[in-house]
Amino acid sequence: MAKSLYDILLDVSKSSMIDNGDLHAAGLLILSAAIDGLRINRAGIWLFSEDKQVICGKMLISGDSCELDTSLCLARSDFPRYFDSLDSERAVVANDAQTNENTLEFSDSYLIPLGISSMLDAPIRHRGEMLGIICCEYQGDMRQWNNEEIAFVSALADTYGRAISASQRNDYEQQLKEINEQLEQKINERTNVLQETLHNLNHTQAKLIESEKLASIGRLVSGLAHEINTPLGIAVTSSSHCTSELKRVQQLYRDEALNEEEFAQFLAGLDDGLDLLNANLNRAATLVHNFKLSGSIHNADEEEQFELRSYIDLTLKSLQPLLKKNQIDCVLLPGTDIPLNSYPGAIAQIITNLITNSIHHAFHHTTEKQIRIELTQISQQTRIRYRDNGCGIAEDIRPKIFEPFFTTARLTGGSGLGLSIVYNLVTQKLGGDIVLDDDQSQGAGFEIRIPKPGSVPPSSA
Ligand SMILES: Nc1ncnc2c1ncn2[C@@H]1O[C@H](COP(=O)(O)OP(=O)(O)O)[C@@H](O)[C@H]1O
Ligand SMILES: [Mg+2]
Repeated sequence: MAKSLYDILLDVSKSSMIDNGDLHAAGLLILSAAIDGLRINRAGIWLFSEDKQVICGKMLISGDSCELDTSLCLARSDFPRYFDSLDSERAVVANDAQTNENTLEFSDSYLIPLGISSMLDAPIRHRGEMLGIICCEYQGDMRQWNNEEIAFVSALADTYGRAISASQRNDYEQQLKEINEQLEQKINERTNVLQETLHNLNHTQAKLIESEKLASIGRLVSGLAHEINTPLGIAVTSSSHCTSELKRVQQLYRDEALNEEEFAQFLAGLDDGLDLLNANLNRAATLVHNFKLSGSIHNADEEEQFELRSYIDLTLKSLQPLLKKNQIDCVLLPGTDIPLNSYPGAIAQIITNLITNSIHHAFHHTTEKQIRIELTQISQQTRIRYRDNGCGIAEDIRPKIFEPFFTTARLTGGSGLGLSIVYNLVTQKLGGDIVLDDDQSQGAGFEIRIPKPGSVPPSSA
């Protein structure tokens, strides 16, 4: 028994071919259903051009043959009545196609030669717009299309609309996939470039930090050389004075002209000279010993027992030539001893960097240049207050000054690393923190807080 139109429609509607995005397979299924259901030989899908002036055969089944994307196209100008009837967006029902007012334009060129007697066209709609038609043609005696058949073809046309949606969705998904792939590739490329840039940056940063450290060590070493020069100079003068006196007395002795008073004077002079020589050689030796203690000259990484006040005093002595050259009055305020077990090298470097910054940035418009350093011990915390009386640090740059490479002096050779090194030494090496004074109107002020090892840092500060 032949299937009912309803069952054929149900099979088509339930088929996965309608929604899987393959428009060709869906069209074939739908046209085959029309041919089966209406017991006809020819059926086709025709789609409008964008301006609706032409309609072309997208897929035609005739008997056993199936043609895709045919070259068959009908222009509105050639078949105005037929296009008018399509414009009504309703099914074109032509029982007698050769005389029907909507289809008679095809009679001579098409219907009569092919023996087509009846036509039934149903509009294909997609998102509310009519895109074309499913055209069913009957060859043989004239045929009366009944309502069920008209509804059947209309439903098939709607199903084709559904297949168009699925195909578009497939296209979009494909496009999306391609865009995603392109995006991923772009992201990968960018990430690689970024990683390389980051690597180069890290490398450059490490090199710059190293050279900034070397520069601050250099400043300390030149200070040391200057400090040692003075006692050594005195020692050399004293020694050569003693030698020449000795030669003079030896000559007197050889000439038998040396008297007792002359000899006693010589001995007293020799005694004084040797005392001076000893004192100054000792001073030089102590300086070298103390500077050796200063981790900045050898290793900033060694933890040691030391007394903070005398250690900073020593550091300032080594910077004395620099301070003197720039006419800066730098004072470490008196106070009690502060014994520490910490990293003296780091502290020397911090003080050196702060002073270097004052010299470079603070005193452009200051005549009486001052730096004050104050040390206090509050319960378990050691505080180093540093203040100069220069221009202070402008409010808008305060949040950035500890960032590596931030500098307002790029044109005059600033690396922007001085305070970043200070920050890292304070927070990482010494386990403390550094804050900028709120009031910078009288000059730049910093407070460094170092906890005693093993103590809990105070929560308020
Ligand atoms: N004592 C100071 N007085 C005024 N400005 C300062 C002082 N110390 C630092 N600054 C500001 O902080 C910036 C960052 O300092 P730093 O990290 O040492 O870099 P650099 O000294 O190479 O510029 C400086 O460029 C300057 O603008
Ligand atoms: Mg600096």
